Amino acid sequence: MEALQALQQRVSSPKLCEPAPSVEQRQAIFQAALRAADHANLRPWRFIVVEGDARGILGELFLRVSLAKTPELDEAQRAKILAKPFRAPMILVAVAPFTEHPKVPELELQLSCAAAVQNILNAAFALNVGAYWRTGSMAFSEQVNEGLGLAAKDQIVGFIYMGTPAGRVKPVPSLNVDDFFQPLEV
Ligand SMILES: Cc1cc2nc3c(=O)[nH]c(=O)nc-3n(C[C@H](O)[C@H](O)[C@H](O)COP(=O)(O)O)c2cc1C
Repeated sequence: MEALQALQQRVSSPKLCEPAPSVEQRQAIFQAALRAADHANLRPWRFIVVEGDARGILGELFLRVSLAKTPELDEAQRAKILAKPFRAPMILVAVAPFTEHPKVPELELQLSCAAAVQNILNAAFALNVGAYWRTGSMAFSEQVNEGLGLAAKDQIVGFIYMGTPAGRVKPVPSLNVDDFFQPLEV
């Protein structure tokens, strides 16, 4: 797909099925992530690739953290949490590692990582790979960070679910450029 067309037409794929992106597709998509804008070349992007049986480990971590907060979860609620990572054949945990820098505030590390995630979504769409960016409470939990071997101040920017789009592609919402871009009044 032509680059500009992919940027203008991209939509998320909430329903995903096998197969996961191929080795070639991953290379192309991951390379796109590494071209995110990046203040001071800090490269604040780490991606933990979770697929196959490793999705069960992520589900168990989600359940442990959920139970620590809400011990009275019933069987159905527990099963739902365990099943979350199985909504896609592959998940990227996108992390902005924390680092001190005199000119780059913490927010900019997260913004750069978010830009890398958007590059992933765009590149995936251009290759007909489905992707969906999720956060939720698990992205903002010190216990999840610990379980994934991250430092407490590292920030999970998203769980990027990836696979083959299942069902029809959503229509692109029609938005008016003038509603979002206005000249500065002088
Ligand atoms: C930082 C961020 C976090 C998000 N977290 C969730 C989420 O937890 N659950 C969800 O259903 N959608 C979430 N979304 C929205 C979807 O990824 C998606 O963008 C939205 O459904 C709109 O679809 P579109 O990308 O096709 O326009 C998040 C988006 C962003 C940017």
